[in-house]
Amino acid sequence: MFSTALRKTSKRCRLSRGAVLGRAVIIPECTSPPVCQRRAHQQSRRASNGTWRPVSVLDEWVAREARPISLRQLMVFGRSLTESRLISSANYVRTELPARIAHRLRDMQQLPYVVVTNPHINEVYDLYYNAFDQFRKLKEIKTLEDNEKLCDIIRHNLKGHLTVIPKLAMGILECGGLMDPQDLDKFMNTILRSRISRRVIAEQHLSLTETFNSPYFSPGAKLSESDFIGEVFIKCSARDVITRCAKAVTALARSTNGPDVPIPEVNIVGHLDASFPYILSHIEYIVGELLRNSVQAVIERHQKQPDAMSSVPPPVEVTICEAQEHVIFRISDRGGGIPRAELPYLWSFSKGPQSAKRLENLGQVPRMAATMQELHVEDELGRADLKAPAAYQSSLSSLTSRPPNLRLGMGLPLSRVYAEYWAGSLHLHSLEGYGVDAFLQISRLGNKNEQLVTRASMDSV
Ligand SMILES: Nc1ncnc2c1ncn2[C@@H]1O[C@H](COP(=O)(O)OP(=O)(O)OP(=O)(O)O)[C@@H](O)[C@H]1O
Ligand SMILES: [Mg+2]
Repeated sequence: MFSTALRKTSKRCRLSRGAVLGRAVIIPECTSPPVCQRRAHQQSRRASNGTWRPVSVLDEWVAREARPISLRQLMVFGRSLTESRLISSANYVRTELPARIAHRLRDMQQLPYVVVTNPHINEVYDLYYNAFDQFRKLKEIKTLEDNEKLCDIIRHNLKGHLTVIPKLAMGILECGGLMDPQDLDKFMNTILRSRISRRVIAEQHLSLTETFNSPYFSPGAKLSESDFIGEVFIKCSARDVITRCAKAVTALARSTNGPDVPIPEVNIVGHLDASFPYILSHIEYIVGELLRNSVQAVIERHQKQPDAMSSVPPPVEVTICEAQEHVIFRISDRGGGIPRAELPYLWSFSKGPQSAKRLENLGQVPRMAATMQELHVEDELGRADLKAPAAYQSSLSSLTSRPPNLRLGMGLPLSRVYAEYWAGSLHLHSLEGYGVDAFLQISRLGNKNEQLVTRASMDSV
């Protein structure tokens, strides 16, 4: 059964429209109004694993707003690291993580009953509730020893939650007909953004702890000369990002299509010296996905030409533009454009008519590490590895290790979530029969707060 905390007042027991067969469906906080009223006096509710979950606890945490951070804040905070800074970072993580998870638990409770009882969504709910429960019970961190224990819990959770993206994606696809697709997408966008945000906070703290524990570290020393402060790469070179992603995508295309199929080159033009502070894995994920789509489209189109094996496919052109506040990437291909039938579902997680096929493919991907951070946790590599240039290569193994030809329909919507998270944007223009131009805009200054709410939900406020 779905595990949920029963809320205290019957006012909360409301009907959610638009679910199965057009009938009103009651949200999971209660099963029917009379039952709800009867239970209104109860303080807790049995979870799927048989434990009782006090409801007032979640209310208390939902009442706390998330405290957003910017890349610049992350850098400034980590720049001169001392024991007391590390401890205050630990306490920020200890209080911020449960507050952020609590909001998502509440979102899930407010989905229609048929959706929250979907086995995949239910599993995610349980994972989230257990993490929430673990973090909320932690006492104030006062010593480095306390911090080590916190770091162990963080690592354990990061690893345990690697199954979340495919589970959510499968749940959303299975619930396609049960809820307004726009609402489903809004839910998915918010939950994924929040997931990114919690992982950023958690990874940043693990990274700072690792730096602090490193034998080369002297407390209070300025770290500004090093390339990374925690997870933040201070000078992320646009050209280097493209070059590394292009190499990985080309290697993937070769292994997918065989050595005889011509692969397009990736050319880079424009402001080649542009750089910006960013979390490397985020930008590499987005650029990697865009290049992957472009390269594959060009290959497929070129294969249809009569002289396909002897001629060279048109290159993918990447233009870098460094403006005052932004770095813009334009990725242009001549892969024939996006098929008309796919256009309405491009940014959607609930893929319309293609959902059955996507679901089948997702079933083959039980764990999905979208970014470098997740892979590092999965491989249990030390965070210090990130500072070595060799780590650049391994950061792209998420692309290369994904099964070839297994299209999940996640590349574009998830890339947009990542792009918007640090106040950037991602747009595509498809020129029918010719090719696609993708525009990725990144904030150059690192001074924008993380965007925890989607544009759509901000508009509706
Ligand atoms: N540059 C492009 N040229 C032609 N079609 C494209 C291009 N980019 C995306 N598409 C079309 O849009 C669809 C959705 O792209 P998206 O990256 O979201 O998912 P996917 O590539 O199908 O799967 P995944 O990225 O999860 O492996 C693709 O299946 C493809 O048909
Ligand atoms: Mg793709």
